[in-house]
Amino acid sequence: MGHHRRIDEAVRDADNVSDKITPIVRIRNLGDSAIEWEVKYWPIDYAKYNDTDALVRQRVWYALRRSSLSFAYPTRTIQVERKRPPRPTTAEEGIIDRLTAIDVFAPLSTEEIQQLASTTVGHVFAPGEALIRAGEEGSSMFVVHNGRVEVQVVENGRPRIVAVLNEGDFFGEMGLFTGEPRTANVVALDETEVLEIGHEAMRRLFETNPSLVESISWTIAERRAGLAATTQSETSIEESAGVLVSIKRFFGLK
Ligand code: CMP
Repeated sequence: MGHHRRIDEAVRDADNVSDKITPIVRIRNLGDSAIEWEVKYWPIDYAKYNDTDALVRQRVWYALRRSSLSFAYPTRTIQVERKRPPRPTTAEEGIIDRLTAIDVFAPLSTEEIQQLASTTVGHVFAPGEALIRAGEEGSSMFVVHNGRVEVQVVENGRPRIVAVLNEGDFFGEMGLFTGEPRTANVVALDETEVLEIGHEAMRRLFETNPSLVESISWTIAERRAGLAATTQSETSIEESAGVLVSIKRFFGLK
């Protein structure tokens, strides 16, 4: 039995549908997402038109369901585009790789790196934005994750570029480790994502990794020399030792 006949019978059996005149069932339109059928029948009592119409639709629905014919709802192919997570929340693996590649973190165990990675906070800066301003207080350091920054000191009202730091370099360690005000401006050159490492996370690592304190104090002594305007003095052991002492004092280490 074709769909046509099934509909025809279902309609004809409905209450108030005249069996004197055969209902007409025909295709009205081959549409984009459905074939539209038209069903015409003659009510016995026209006053009951609304009830009859509802009943006829119900009968058609059941008849079609029995023939395993589903109604055609408009369908569309949906391309699901997963939004990439906003830049500040870089995937943890990326952060772990980044931190692992940093020289001074070499003494850290895999667990310590993982622990550190989970406490870092990402920040994205526009080109030209200052990440750190000389003279401010600050108790975090930053790792350049993407992009580039410039370290500048202002001399006689003019900025002097002290260094350009790239992916994998860190800055802000002076303020973090000595408790002194920021020594320079750090300005993003490109769109730059940095990973912020806080005081507490560092303190924990210092307790278990004395060599980390030492290597960082070397970096600080070296950079201090770089900051000194004219006299590009060699970094001395004493200078580094002085930094080491002040770091230990600041972190309450023995
Ligand atoms: P901090 O003093 O906390 O803030 C400014 C930062 O600039 C400083 O830490 C260092 O990380 C960085 N910085 C200062 N001097 C130099 C330098 N000579 N070379 C590279 N980075 C530097």
